[in-house]
Amino acid sequence: MVKEKILVIGASGQIGVELTLALRKIYGNNNVIASDLREENPLLKGTGPYVSMDVMNKEMLHVQVIRQGITQIYLLAAILSATGEKNPNLAWHLNMQGLLNVLDIAREEKLSKVYWPSSIAVFGPTSPKINCPQQTIIEPTTVYGISKYAGEFWCNYYFNRYGVDVRSIRYPGLISYKSAPGGGTTDYAIEIFHEALEEKKYQCFLKEDTYLPMMYMEDAIKATLQLMEAPASNITVRTSYNVSGMSFSPREIAEEIKKHIPDFTIDYKPDYRQAIADSWPQSIDDSVARKDWGWQEDYNLEKMTKEMFDNISK
Ligand code: NAD
Ligand code: SER
Repeated sequence: MVKEKILVIGASGQIGVELTLALRKIYGNNNVIASDLREENPLLKGTGPYVSMDVMNKEMLHVQVIRQGITQIYLLAAILSATGEKNPNLAWHLNMQGLLNVLDIAREEKLSKVYWPSSIAVFGPTSPKINCPQQTIIEPTTVYGISKYAGEFWCNYYFNRYGVDVRSIRYPGLISYKSAPGGGTTDYAIEIFHEALEEKKYQCFLKEDTYLPMMYMEDAIKATLQLMEAPASNITVRTSYNVSGMSFSPREIAEEIKKHIPDFTIDYKPDYRQAIADSWPQSIDDSVARKDWGWQEDYNLEKMTKEMFDNISK
């Protein structure tokens, strides 16, 4: 059996930290190399190897893959929706070229697997709002969504043309307490917990009735590992899988928070992120992921809220 050696690119980010720690538990600390443009996240320090690396530097990336004997890459470096709208050229450049660099190296070095996340941001205003299906009208209006949709088809192309076993999930908004989020439209659902504990009030940048697909980080890590461990013959989607956890609005999460902090208050001051949120579906149909590799979420809004408070308070 081939001994897997994994490179996580973007390991200091919101997902990267938790995914790196989870992979280290499975594959052993020294077999999972964390890398990022930023310095090593404090939560990763002492848990395994770290290299400072820019995914845009293809030569350097290629050298690392050969030198470290890498067999799998998890590519998490990207610019998210809200930051992307502030700098569309940069978002397009990083999100596309970073992926192409990884796919090319995976092909040349015959890596066993690649993981690259897409997003619910691929969907646009013409996609169905409720239970948005795996295959439907997809006309994204943000540069982030455009880059993710193009990325999905590059993954599909590298699989079909070169046999690169690249797998992907369209994550919903991810909610976590370990590592700070990196500039997404769904970040309000993380900020709100911190502000509730510190200030007992929160000003939300989305309107109270803005429903979005969301997921607790534990579920996102579980889905990622499940997809990556599934037999290749089960993977029928080589663009990216819809995966769903829950769907709620700012008013609903505020009501759940009030069960823990009764004098918590919320007010609403929508900004440019409202238009981004309005372009996305409110909920996602993930029946294909359930059928292909047995996806099943563990967290709903109530259970997640309790976990967030328990852990942030610590
Ligand atoms: P993040 O912004 O928290 O982390 C990204 C990391 O990539 C950062 O640590 C950053 O320093 C690093 N990075 C940026 N440019 C780099 C470069 N040139 N070379 C190397 N590293 C670089 O993002 P995240 O929330 O952890 O998202 C990870 C992936 O998941 C992204 O592809 C994102 O689009 C996708 N995603 C995230 C969410 C979410 O809610 N967090 C939802 C859907 C999809
Ligand atoms: N959480 C992400 C964002 O808001 C969705 O991809 O950008």
